[in-house]
Amino acid sequence: MNEESHVLEKPPEGASADWTIPQDWAAYSAQEHATWDILFERQAKQLPGRASEAFLAGVDVLKLSKPGIPDFEELSERLMKLTGWQVVAVPGLVPDAVFFDHLANRRFVAGNFIRKREQLDYLQEPDVFHDVFGHVPMLANPVFGDYMEAYGRGGLRALEYDSLDHLARLYWYTVEFGLIEEAGDLRIYGSGIVSSHGESVFALDDPSPNRIAFDMKRVMRTNYRIDDFQQVYFVIPSFEELLRVTVETDFAPLYGELENASDFGPADIAEGDILLTRGTQAYACERAAA
Ligand code: PHE
Ligand code: FE
Repeated sequence: MNEESHVLEKPPEGASADWTIPQDWAAYSAQEHATWDILFERQAKQLPGRASEAFLAGVDVLKLSKPGIPDFEELSERLMKLTGWQVVAVPGLVPDAVFFDHLANRRFVAGNFIRKREQLDYLQEPDVFHDVFGHVPMLANPVFGDYMEAYGRGGLRALEYDSLDHLARLYWYTVEFGLIEEAGDLRIYGSGIVSSHGESVFALDDPSPNRIAFDMKRVMRTNYRIDDFQQVYFVIPSFEELLRVTVETDFAPLYGELENASDFGPADIAEGDILLTRGTQAYACERAAA
């Protein structure tokens, strides 16, 4: 996630100029490794038939079922051979330009801390389970790996146009909370969904959220909520198509257009939307009333 605010201005003590720190794998306690194992087991059971085949293949080929928090060096070695990506540790959130520069160079930045036992189901800051289990399997997919690199370069460009808010929505509704159509079925691939025990069922099965065919401009006009399950998911037809449309479109004129366009709320339905599911929004209404 790259949209939070409490970011430091320069690398903290002990971090390199590019903000990376050693993962310090040897420092994890047995309890912390066991927390990973609990989270991994729950999702490993739940995701077959729900997660995209690309995600499941990534979990497999990266050997994430090996017990304990993965060692980033070992993980990077496997990933490097497959798609040229690496995983590097950072101390929490980093400035946008730093985040994008790492992506553009095929380095995925991951937090090295793991959530506490009382936070198995929800935490606001991305921990090593979200970052590694949620994001890294998709980086073993060549097409998605290319998309992430292109996004990094696009991010650096968006900074120049002062249009990061619009671009960040693309990240949110694809990388973090994307759905894909596979063999006539909906599957999840967004890291925020696959790493969440609750949302990996909700996103596919609950009648509450809208599920809308992906449209790049529409997505960039749509606000999102960071505090609860999503009220809308956008569905891509394939990773190839996502990569093609985002790479082939020059965003510079788009940013100008979007400047003057109104935003959509997370539950809005827009003219031209192809609705795969019209949601009841019952879940969101209940939560708002509580
Ligand atoms: N084509 C985008 C641009 O012109 C860059 C980009 C590619 C952004 C892929 C996101 C994903 O800025
Ligand atoms: Fe994330």
